[in-house]
Amino acid sequence: MQRPWWQSSVVYQIYPRSFADANGDGVGDLAGIRSKLDHLAWLGVDAIWLSPFYRSPMADFGYDVSDYCAVDPLFGTLEDFDRLVAEAHGRDIRVIVDWVPNHTSDQHPWFLEARSSRDSAKRDWYVWRDPSPDGSPPNNWIRAWGGEPAWTFDEATGQWYLHLFLPEQPDLNWREPAVVDAMHDVLRFWLDRGVDGFRMDVLHAIGKDPELPDNPPEADPIPQSGRNDHLSTHALIRGLRSVLEEYDGDRMMVGEVYLLDTAKVAKYYDEGWGVHLSFNFPPLYTRWDAERWRRRIDEVAREIEPVGWPSWVLSNHDNPRHRTRYGSEARARAAAVLLLTLRGTPFLYAGEELGLEDAVVPPERVVDPGGRDGCRAPIPWDGSPTHGWGTTDPRLPWPPEPDRRNAEGLQADEGSILHLYRRLLSARKASPALQVGEQWLLAAPPGVLAWVRDVGEDRRAVVVNFTAESATLDLDLDGSFMVEVASDGKGEGEPFAGELAGDVALVLRPA
Ligand code: NOJ
Repeated sequence: MQRPWWQSSVVYQIYPRSFADANGDGVGDLAGIRSKLDHLAWLGVDAIWLSPFYRSPMADFGYDVSDYCAVDPLFGTLEDFDRLVAEAHGRDIRVIVDWVPNHTSDQHPWFLEARSSRDSAKRDWYVWRDPSPDGSPPNNWIRAWGGEPAWTFDEATGQWYLHLFLPEQPDLNWREPAVVDAMHDVLRFWLDRGVDGFRMDVLHAIGKDPELPDNPPEADPIPQSGRNDHLSTHALIRGLRSVLEEYDGDRMMVGEVYLLDTAKVAKYYDEGWGVHLSFNFPPLYTRWDAERWRRRIDEVAREIEPVGWPSWVLSNHDNPRHRTRYGSEARARAAAVLLLTLRGTPFLYAGEELGLEDAVVPPERVVDPGGRDGCRAPIPWDGSPTHGWGTTDPRLPWPPEPDRRNAEGLQADEGSILHLYRRLLSARKASPALQVGEQWLLAAPPGVLAWVRDVGEDRRAVVVNFTAESATLDLDLDGSFMVEVASDGKGEGEPFAGELAGDVALVLRPA
């Protein structure tokens, strides 16, 4: 069976403003990304996902879009984008772009028009409500970050508008057919330019209960963006899927389904009519602990496998990096083995291959309203004072150890975490079992997880030691195995005798 590319691929997320800076203004740009394609090809990624680069007032650094079909001048031009796609495709790297359907910027012409009067032809493109009798917001929903209401009062027209995120990010009303049409056209605009798919921002939130009911007062005070799971969303997603189906070449969509419940995440595959991939965040929030991870892996096998192809992610632009969360490079290395060998499509976040930690951002340099600056620090490309950015003072402080922990320096060191990622990606590429094989867990001592991947004649085993103590394994495997990749680089190519050092993970292949 010919499998779609996104099942066997490794996707690499790029946060454009933090990735690479071609014009030396301290903010990354599209030409910067293009200049690093050789590095990404060398690393061996199959696809890149670009976080928003569209025209935006940048209240949420591009997740507040004021023109879905234009490149913000900060990042370059449409010609830069076309060139990036062409050159990525020339290296067999696919390109996925972020699409932000739940909300626009408050500076988007659609919202400016909607806001201009209650009679505006676009009034219903957004969610407006009269005040409650006591003048308070129409319901008790709270927005992301900070516990404030998810509503802002518009003095001029005397109504509140809904925003699950910042007041600068008004929610679109997907019950309005003209919104659906306009947003479908946005997809077509980028599909026509040759993109291979979309990462769809807070996709689960686009359909809303038309009554906009209060949440029960005892409900956790979590922002509405993490609670919204209205059934109407699925029909909307089917509509999106049908736009992708108008195009050939396996265009894909991966939904950011920020519901911290794997059974709910699974629903978004919608029996083949929904997303191709659904981000499942509970593992990202799971401590580095074998038993907890075993439960997560079981959960994915139970909930996702019957309905769709899993995805795995440990870091992104919204959370502290896993190198920071797990506390050591040894663990980050073992985690790379885990991420790149579990059954499903792995998503890497730029810089994790360098073992980057979050930057320490002093209060006077904080720019993000959501407190996420640390994981968005600029990528150090070399050991010079500018680290390849054309300025010593880019938009955020460098992550720790940039003189040593930079792409050029680690590329020159075969023992580095960067080379580990490269070996893992190349082992994956060479092994159908690692890419698409079945998976089952093996019995292992406490603190260790072991699993087998298997398809046809091809087979791999993986062992991960979540503890600092060494372990002796007696795996229920037919035949003898050798170490193909070791997270600490030791013993590769040698027979596996059952010894597993602390904080180490191994990919094993039949000897
Ligand atoms: C999820 C994105 O990943 C995040 O960065 C953004 O702030 C929100 N959605 C709102 O668009």
